[in-house]
Amino acid sequence: MNKLSDIAEKLVVQHHLTAEEYAFLIKNRDEKTAAFLAENARSVRESIYGKDVYVRGLIEFSNYCRNDCYYCGIRRSNDNARRYRLTAEDILACCEEGYALGYRTFVLQSGEDMTFTAEKMADLVASIKARFPDCAITLSVGEREKEVYALWKQAGADRYLLRHETANDAHYRLLHPQELSLKHRKQCLADLKELGYQVGAGFMVSPPGQTPELLAEDMVYLEELAPEMVGLGPFIPQKDTPFREEAAGTLELTIFMLSVVRLALPTVLLPATTALGTIDPQGREKGMLAGANVCMPNLSPMSVRAKYALYDNKVSLGEEGAQAIEDLKKRMESIGYHVVTARGDHASHVLASEK
Ligand code: 5AD
Repeated sequence: MNKLSDIAEKLVVQHHLTAEEYAFLIKNRDEKTAAFLAENARSVRESIYGKDVYVRGLIEFSNYCRNDCYYCGIRRSNDNARRYRLTAEDILACCEEGYALGYRTFVLQSGEDMTFTAEKMADLVASIKARFPDCAITLSVGEREKEVYALWKQAGADRYLLRHETANDAHYRLLHPQELSLKHRKQCLADLKELGYQVGAGFMVSPPGQTPELLAEDMVYLEELAPEMVGLGPFIPQKDTPFREEAAGTLELTIFMLSVVRLALPTVLLPATTALGTIDPQGREKGMLAGANVCMPNLSPMSVRAKYALYDNKVSLGEEGAQAIEDLKKRMESIGYHVVTARGDHASHVLASEK
């Protein structure tokens, strides 16, 4: 046995590594280790979630954003972004279409658009919940006050996605302007957890400045936070951002990190992201085979799709809702997995609600 295989073995058995071990594993990874981790990640995933693939209907309801993150195409200072926001009626129509297609989770995602006030969002959540009581609602609308998160929970929101982006202060500074802070981001995640949301943290693979040591810090933070979901996809440059010339993250490292996350957090809900499908035509299938168990096809109206351009060359821009789910079902069947019509809660929350 050498040090690399010892560490990989430890991750499989103990679901935990130290920061130094994570860094060593990531820095020295080879094909054999990646295959070993993927195989074990898949078997852990199948022991908990079987061969089911949970789907979430993603509704990108506004691309207005008050923030100016250096990597993101809908950053406030991007004058080339064509801005849009959907009305509550538009959003309900997306849910209606999604429900008929079998979706039982809707993810409402937007930039930090403050015209969607706390009350307006709460009303929106309540009306979706009233219309589709058997569905879960996931919000992904950025940083807000704890009271606001509480109001939305009260209104019926079940889950919240807020990637931490990086667990290192200096790296956070490199990716974000001064007015944003990792401390506040972490506070939001802690608040969301405390309020009883199923919480999703996460990060991009290979944004500028990322190193194995920094990825190790992300893993240590994830172990500590123990989120129910982790969003993880490759960084992809967007032409109107300061990072336009930077290289995209690779399929290989993204897949490797998916396996590492699955093994560190066995019950985690782990999407094979659109960004992964964008850098490789078989990206989502490969992600599934490395431990992912969730997919989030786009349910946004066709007319606004291209405008929600966080990065360039995003896939599925031309696919209607019905076509997207059919395509996904085929892709998943081709690897022996099955898209299911279910809320797809985190394992711990299913058990809690059955008690
Ligand atoms: N490439 C990949 N992912 C991106 N995101 C934002 N910009 C990019 C990009 N250029 C991710 C961020 C954010 C999520 C909604 O999308 O991690 O949290």
